[in-house]
Amino acid sequence: MAILPVLEIPNPILLQKAEPVSVVTEEIKQLLSDMLETMYATHGVGLAGNQVGVLKRVVVLDCADKDAEPDPIKMVNPKIIWKSEEMICHNEGCLSIPRQYADVTRHAEVEVEYTDENGEIKRRRTGGLLAIGIQHELDHLEGILFIDYVSPLKRKMMLKRLEKNRKRAAEAAALEA
Ligand code: NI
Repeated sequence: MAILPVLEIPNPILLQKAEPVSVVTEEIKQLLSDMLETMYATHGVGLAGNQVGVLKRVVVLDCADKDAEPDPIKMVNPKIIWKSEEMICHNEGCLSIPRQYADVTRHAEVEVEYTDENGEIKRRRTGGLLAIGIQHELDHLEGILFIDYVSPLKRKMMLKRLEKNRKRAAEAAALEA
């Protein structure tokens, strides 16, 4: 197991489309385990291949409540096969856009079909945070980020704030050196 570096914007890999996985090899299994470990270590609830620099259709998620049992999910080639008409608005964040949050409207429930790490086809119909997480992570595989859904003004403010945070962190690191 290993903690992988998480790419941040403006890395162009985050804007590219990920390729389907033809066979779930040992290498893919290892990648899924490493991604899950990375997600937990960075306190994320989901992570997509693009975010660790791998343009393959792989996603990990755990959207369980903090006081509930963990619900780690590893998905290969996930596809949304049904979505509710009902929509839900949630304040989202992303490990690739650190400490920036914005309201995004998505389908309240979805059904996802994917291949699990044993090569078996699975289906899961869900709502709440997991439904939001699935839509957010599947967007990553298409090169879409949650900031693509916010207004240009709000987006500009978020990017500015992100730059400011990075500058401050770099200055603090320079002082320590
Ligand atoms: Ni994200």
